[in-house]
Amino acid sequence: MAQGWFITFEGPEGSGKTTQIALLRDYFARLGLEVVTTREPGGTPAGDRIRSVLLGNETGSLEPETELFLMLAQRTEHLHKVIHPAVAAGKVVLCDRYFDSSMAYQGYARGLDPQKVRDIHAQFLPGFLPGCTVLLQIAPEQGLERARHGGRKQHDRIESEALEFHRRVYDGYNSLAQQEPERFVVVQADGDPQAISARIIEGLKKRLTFPDGNK
Ligand SMILES: Nc1ncnc2c1ncn2[C@@H]1O[C@H](COP(=O)(O)OP(=O)(O)OP(=O)(O)O)[C@@H](O)[C@H]1O
Ligand SMILES: [Mg+2]
Repeated sequence: MAQGWFITFEGPEGSGKTTQIALLRDYFARLGLEVVTTREPGGTPAGDRIRSVLLGNETGSLEPETELFLMLAQRTEHLHKVIHPAVAAGKVVLCDRYFDSSMAYQGYARGLDPQKVRDIHAQFLPGFLPGCTVLLQIAPEQGLERARHGGRKQHDRIESEALEFHRRVYDGYNSLAQQEPERFVVVQADGDPQAISARIIEGLKKRLTFPDGNK
């Protein structure tokens, strides 16, 4: 591929983003594509340090704007140093959380105006929008329960928010997917992980031309 693909994975806590990225990475590798998997917050050395501020429980409460600016800071490093270069080199970038997380969490859930969150991205990060976004839909209760039983003992700073907060995240994601149906592949995230992966691939095939046409 001359120009690669930038695909992001979004959804509430425990919706299966990390699981589905691993399955899609293996599928693309079998098609002979070069795949880069990465995540937000993080993806660069500075981004990982910002991640620990954003997610560490010892950080305590942050103003919504502070959270947004920290997200933007790590995203700027990530986009310039990792994502854009990989896509320019013809690779497939699979990113675990990205712009829509800021829309859903800092925007819809924390109460910042989603239009302002979008505008600040457009002003400072030209070319930031992913080609496709996979939204894994799961009831917040079910996702939190899964995340809790995933082997990690403690919820991170944002996971620890009240259920009401996670409901606003869920509703926010649904609004975003309705606003941009051409970019979003929306998939129900309960049931067999392999079956979910097949639905993701089906949705992506409608938007991207896979190397062998139809594998
Ligand atoms: N389809 C599924 N059915 C049941 N459990 C699943 C399914 N997919 C993933 N899980 C399990 O649910 C937990 C959360 O999955 P995963 O870590 O992939 O989600 P995530 O969206 O990346 O979560 P987080 O928001 O915590 O990063 C893990 O223990 C995983 O094994
Ligand atoms: Mg994960």
